[in-house]
Amino acid sequence: MSDRSETPTAPILLADYRPPAWTVEQVELTFDLAIDRAEVDARLALRRKVDEPIRLNGEGLELIELKVDGRVLSEGEYILGDGMLEFTATGDTCVVETRVALRPAENTAFEGLYLSGSRETGFLLTQCEAEGFRHITFFPDRPDVLSRYTVTLRADKARFPVLLAGGNPDGSGDLPEGRHWARFVDPHPKPSYLFALVAGRLERISRDHVTADGRRVALHIWAEPDAIDRCDYAMDALVRSMRWDEDAYGRNYDLDVFHVVATHDFNMGAMENKGLNIFNAKYLLADPDSSTDDEYRHVEAVVAHEYFHNWSGNRVTCRDWFQLSLKEGLTVFREQSFSADMNSAPLKRIEDVALLRRAQFPEDAGPLSHPVRPSQYSEINNFYTATVYEKGAELVRMLAGRLGPEGFRQGMDLYFARHDGQAVTIEDFLRALGEANGIDLMPYLAWYEQSGTPRISADGRYDAAQRRYRLTLRQRTPAVDGQAARRPLPVPVRLSLFDPSGQATPLRLEGEAAPDGVERTVVLHTAEQVFTFEDIAQAPVPSLLRGFSAPVILEYDYAPDELALLLRHDADGFNRWEAGQQLAGLAFDDARDGRQQGAALDAWTTVLAALFHDPAVDDALLAELLTPPGEIELVERQPERDPQRIRDARLRMLGALAARIGVPALRQRYDALSAMARGDLDAASQARRQLKRRVLDLIALASPDDGRALARTQYERAPAMTDRLAALSTLALADADAAAEAIAHFRRRYDGNALALDKWFAMQAQLPGDSAFDRIRSLEADPAFTLKNPNRVQALIGTFARANPTGFHRTDGAAYRWLADRLLAIDALNPQVAARVATAFNGWKRLEPVRREAAHAVIAALSSRRDLSRDLTDILGRVAL
Ligand code: ARG
Ligand code: ZN
Repeated sequence: MSDRSETPTAPILLADYRPPAWTVEQVELTFDLAIDRAEVDARLALRRKVDEPIRLNGEGLELIELKVDGRVLSEGEYILGDGMLEFTATGDTCVVETRVALRPAENTAFEGLYLSGSRETGFLLTQCEAEGFRHITFFPDRPDVLSRYTVTLRADKARFPVLLAGGNPDGSGDLPEGRHWARFVDPHPKPSYLFALVAGRLERISRDHVTADGRRVALHIWAEPDAIDRCDYAMDALVRSMRWDEDAYGRNYDLDVFHVVATHDFNMGAMENKGLNIFNAKYLLADPDSSTDDEYRHVEAVVAHEYFHNWSGNRVTCRDWFQLSLKEGLTVFREQSFSADMNSAPLKRIEDVALLRRAQFPEDAGPLSHPVRPSQYSEINNFYTATVYEKGAELVRMLAGRLGPEGFRQGMDLYFARHDGQAVTIEDFLRALGEANGIDLMPYLAWYEQSGTPRISADGRYDAAQRRYRLTLRQRTPAVDGQAARRPLPVPVRLSLFDPSGQATPLRLEGEAAPDGVERTVVLHTAEQVFTFEDIAQAPVPSLLRGFSAPVILEYDYAPDELALLLRHDADGFNRWEAGQQLAGLAFDDARDGRQQGAALDAWTTVLAALFHDPAVDDALLAELLTPPGEIELVERQPERDPQRIRDARLRMLGALAARIGVPALRQRYDALSAMARGDLDAASQARRQLKRRVLDLIALASPDDGRALARTQYERAPAMTDRLAALSTLALADADAAAEAIAHFRRRYDGNALALDKWFAMQAQLPGDSAFDRIRSLEADPAFTLKNPNRVQALIGTFARANPTGFHRTDGAAYRWLADRLLAIDALNPQVAARVATAFNGWKRLEPVRREAAHAVIAALSSRRDLSRDLTDILGRVAL
């Protein structure tokens, strides 16, 4: 477990980076595994780089023996303390041997070696990223030390029939007293955070894959016996991912085996350990009866993400943890491209931008704001954030857009070729991409170093006499508390101009001889720049930042009818949706300020009602268009946040939309969609379910009795989870009492199915209003609730605190006090999970005064405690600032 903060640790600074004094060339590990106590023998072959003592990280380890070059060191010959083992060595190479003991079953923090599941049936596994390896053995636990690993596992054969570690298998056999052993050799040098082992009673499904360069790879997915029949979808996704990386990036897998293991006890989503990926079951298991369509897509995306890390992360890794986005931003981008190819590209883009706005923009606007490459941290686990992942992916996307598909591929080829087997920096990445194309990409470094979401304001002036359109773009990034002034960034703005009939106009910039298409990308390099377009016959409506060409907030003073025009005619699927979002934002303002006849509200409902009947709009896009920004995003439109006001206004605008379309038309559509309902997973079926859900919600608003009746029937007849859970949620939102029976039915039906029960907890945790808090407390008393399981904690406590604004932000502050109390309890078990849940306090400063005061009192009291983990102390300390 992480150390407590009685002695506050100084932050780690990027500026202090120094290469390792000693590297480890060869690692031989031998594990004697058991639930309560495991012993680890390590033999490290070190090489000196700098004339300094040997310093090895180690935490929570019981040191049994230490030998240097074959000689046992006595106690006076080494220093052990503060997470570090230190001693001197004379030569330039040195062999260090340690023996330590660990207590896996007591490890509730799920970092290092721990037990998943019960003592009787559970299995042992490891999680090392970022700094978990030091909980397993003494080692220079930093990503720029790359070593070759040989790992031998020994354990009781009946209790641990399956023994796995990363690398290729290198023998196995029986031992006396019912024990057995297995050895693994990984030929590829790797950092310690990619080490992994698994031991227990697991079953597998297997498939062979032959890589494009001709290697036969045995693929194995492992799960506990009751879950092994839910792994087939993940296996298909794995094969698709491998094929795609071969085609799109020319990257082949590089070992003879590839293992993937599912566990219900995992702090994060999944982990790319070399040759032995470990997954939170939530992102690996899927079956129609317990998984929603969204979850199927997540499984495909996370399987791809972890697989893609084999090159972007493992073969080329990070020099230090400040460079985390080098692997994460790049790998998220690679996954996004893959998912776009496997499914619908515009829908994937919409989904990703919606996520960025929901998760990253608020993060970047509050006290936890940090650059994609932070310059300091006190607990690195707190930097696995939406900024490092999602904003990081947007930065790679901008670079890819700047270079074009071929240039980007050449740049990536050079990056992989040049840095294979190395631990590198963001600068190395920019240099490789740039040099392959003869372009200086270093100006983009500013995007990595500067936090905050840039605001781009655009202003268009049409000159009818000159037939000219002058577009002025300006950028500014508001400084978040106490940070330095911002430099201008290179901002690519992809754009088109539409004439009043909805036609895109050919674009000729001033000084050019001829137009160059109807879509262009202009790059804003300075604080302000003017772009003049010639031969423009009529005042145009600009479609800006198409495809979301940069992660910014665009400010352009659109009139409602201009947005309505884009919503009808924009050929860019993303910008079409975006026009709808912008218009919905204006409609929200009308609804909030009581303008029931407001021009924006009228335009929004009118154009959506028209699109509702337009056969050219497909089901998936229509479903997205019928979804206005959520309560959390709409916070941005309020100077001071009052969650209840936001929710009421949003419901009023949806009510107006439902009334405009009309219950009979909604009903007709719902019936048509229902008549086609099966559990199939193809895109068209998923789109129908998605649209049906939006339509049902609108019916429930306009005609609650109809809504309830339809939802109840849908719940009873649903062929699969998507329809079942949607119906349950509609029913519960419409009338929680009327839903009680169905809620109880779901609870019984899925008793023992952890992932389905998580959804049951999360659905109820989102039910809004005054009664929410009591509901949460009675759900805590459900025998299936436990603070020990991260998924369960996130499902109930995390969802309530982050995704239920009206329920959590009570004016009496009771939910804040309750959360503080739960954080203490979670922190004592699992600091990483506590820290993550605590980020729910991020937005407290922008609450209206009554709630703000209540939140402040709670945060101040909690953050002044001295018995918290470093993880939680770090989050609270920054949030409280
Ligand atoms: N590298 C993993 C992934 O994104 C995340 C692991 C993070 N773990 C942690 N304890 N911070 O695929
Ligand atoms: Zn990752």
